[in-house]
Amino acid sequence: MTQHAPNGDADSNTDALRTSRLPGYFRLSVAERLDLLRQQGRIDDDDVALLSDPSRGLPVDVANAMIENVIGVYGLPIGLGLNFLVNGKEYIVPLVVEEPSIIAAVSHTARLVRDAGGFSVDADEPLMIGQVQIIGCPDPDLAREALLDHRQRILDTANTFHPRMVERGGGALDIEVRTLTDDLAHQSRYNTMVVLHILVHTCDAMGANIINTMAEGVAPLVEELTGGRVYLRILSNLADRRLVRASCRIPFQHLAWKGYHGADVAEGIAAASRFAELDPYRATTHNKGVMNGIDAVALATGNDWRAIEAGAHAYCARDGRYRPMATWHTEDEHLVGRIVVPLAVGTVGGPIRLHPTLKVLYKILDVSSAQELACVMGAVGLAQNLAALKALATEGIQSGHMALHARSVAATARLSHDALDPLIQPSAADPRPDRNRPPAHTLEG
Ligand code: MEV
Repeated sequence: MTQHAPNGDADSNTDALRTSRLPGYFRLSVAERLDLLRQQGRIDDDDVALLSDPSRGLPVDVANAMIENVIGVYGLPIGLGLNFLVNGKEYIVPLVVEEPSIIAAVSHTARLVRDAGGFSVDADEPLMIGQVQIIGCPDPDLAREALLDHRQRILDTANTFHPRMVERGGGALDIEVRTLTDDLAHQSRYNTMVVLHILVHTCDAMGANIINTMAEGVAPLVEELTGGRVYLRILSNLADRRLVRASCRIPFQHLAWKGYHGADVAEGIAAASRFAELDPYRATTHNKGVMNGIDAVALATGNDWRAIEAGAHAYCARDGRYRPMATWHTEDEHLVGRIVVPLAVGTVGGPIRLHPTLKVLYKILDVSSAQELACVMGAVGLAQNLAALKALATEGIQSGHMALHARSVAATARLSHDALDPLIQPSAADPRPDRNRPPAHTLEG
């Protein structure tokens, strides 16, 4: 069960006016950038006014309805990831992030992938797991059988709590029953824990509220069927039925950069990938780079990035060893990259209903389903990883990173751009004579 749009040619399959290829965008003023989005028809005058006025982005009274003990709202920059071509469709991707160089870097590698045909991505249907923990069953085997025998009754009961989800084609679809042995249990009756999984199709919602309501709702029936006692009733953030798979294939020659041969860059990236595959210390940092992109889209689309982080990292350790989310290898003069990551995201519900800025960012991103959003996020994660590995395998990240960092530090001190120039000279961090390069080009062109 996957959503898969065919790969396509940018020029033939997309409206040229909505292109995400915007050379020189970084040189424009903020007002000019907004105007270009307006000209593309992604946003209107009201949206421009809203984005231009921080007090309208999230009014305090709206914030006060979102969480408790509100004292204000917190601002973060919104930037645009450019050049994304995913399954043949153009995407301009809003990213909310405080770290310099993430957006320039991801736009740069999205362009490399775009020039090589774009990202191919597919996403599973939005199936989430609700867990019901049952302990003290007089006979765990019989309890298991009883639950499986009454599968339909359990599903029907769960669905009574969200009839509209069923009307939309989702709802509780199946169950699984697992038994866990607890050697530390204080009485033999508690040695075996029975765990019921309810598999719920959440349509365009992330699904946490729906699933938690269903899990709580079936608890009395589950106790009646098993003779045990239900304790926890909650979704699992290990969303391994909701995977996204993105891949790309870049000819070596497209990777030539600042005096580095494309084949060398590709070999360096493949070696970096092997490092992460062999070493959890490196895999953790490698995956942090992936999440730089995914989390920034999660924030820009009102999604629960803590849930995404928890699920992604748990999935990476599913066979007992922590592994990289994205991997790279060379094949027939091409660098080939692939990411597989669970992405439990929604395009409805939660803050999306309330937050005025989110509504505008969705217009810019232009996705029509949670599955489509997950596909874009998978592509962003892969592009972000490529950007980090490309820099690490060549000149290192410090010169590009520190140039932009200096810009933000100086902006804080309210220095003019002229005064910035001496601050953003290349880093002397890499003393190897043949590796001293001009200032890092991190701004995509
Ligand atoms: C920094 O935010 C992310 C990197 O450390 C990722 C990586 O090492 O792959 C550059």
